[in-house]
Amino acid sequence: MHNGTKKIGLLTSGGDAPGMNACIRAVVRTAEFYGHMVCGFYRGYAGLIENEMDALTSRSVSNIIQRGGTILQTARSKEFMTEEGMKKAYGNLKAERIDSLIVIGGDGSFKGALEFNKRYPQISVIGIPGTIDNDLYGTDYTIGYATAVNTVVEALDKIRDTASSHNRLFFVEVMGRDAGFIALSTGLSGGAEAILIPEHKIEISELVEMLENSYRRKKRSSLVIVAEGDERGGAIEISKLVKAQLPEDLFDIRVTILGHIQRGGAPCCQDRVLASRLGVAAVEALINGKNAVMVGMKQNEIDYTDLEKAIKHHVDVDPEMIRIAKMLSL
Ligand code: F6P
Repeated sequence: MHNGTKKIGLLTSGGDAPGMNACIRAVVRTAEFYGHMVCGFYRGYAGLIENEMDALTSRSVSNIIQRGGTILQTARSKEFMTEEGMKKAYGNLKAERIDSLIVIGGDGSFKGALEFNKRYPQISVIGIPGTIDNDLYGTDYTIGYATAVNTVVEALDKIRDTASSHNRLFFVEVMGRDAGFIALSTGLSGGAEAILIPEHKIEISELVEMLENSYRRKKRSSLVIVAEGDERGGAIEISKLVKAQLPEDLFDIRVTILGHIQRGGAPCCQDRVLASRLGVAAVEALINGKNAVMVGMKQNEIDYTDLEKAIKHHVDVDPEMIRIAKMLSL
């Protein structure tokens, strides 16, 4: 290691997302391109605390750009949010002479990175948005979202086939924690009759009316997309509430919870490109002396947002999407 060589710690944290591997590859190869080194920590902050790591080289990230999940594995570490946990992590980084940390994850992971940086400012931190939820301020898209919505749309098309064969009403629950981005874009693309998202509440009576209207317009099958963050519960709960208000036997109701299939699978082209660009940008940001920022992509250009802002600010769903989804479901 010669003077000026950086030693960068890298980890993936929170829920995994397709494209995280492509991003790991980009970080490692960009660092190597500029003559720097990368140590990959396993299982997110847990590995940082336990000092479970490996030096990563261009060869160790060969053949991973197409793989879902994360070769570094991931976790949600409660211990890291404690003073003791951070102290251990810092001790390990110091012993390895690592001067910076790149964290690929969602806002929970960025909270940890920011707290750590405040306590130990000698370690620069850069965040890369990696979550299927697409709910981070400061980037148009997060790594994994495009693949996840493609997975959902593929599933919706299949459900539509069987729904229309049997004249059934399906409630399909999709992921997104507290955000309706996955539900809204997949509901629009899957031609859903209704989309329930936490950001735009539809009363059960209103939903029942919509379904009865579509029945009157001779629609015999319907798909209702339910974002898991709906405060009344998930698709099972909603289906029960609707059933209680619908005239007897109007619809034969079924429920599908798509669950973790939304998180797996080979990343699509869009996610591989995004992950590669953000991985390169994160290393270049460190080289240019940036700290405590998230690298994001806005209107196809790299952009930097203070982690503080990325965490605090909320991203709103586009009301235009809600308007057109409703109009086109007639
Ligand atoms: O944040 C990604 C996400 O998939 C959310 O959409 C979902 O609520 C959550 O993670 C599920 O987490 P877990 O895999 O821990 O059940």
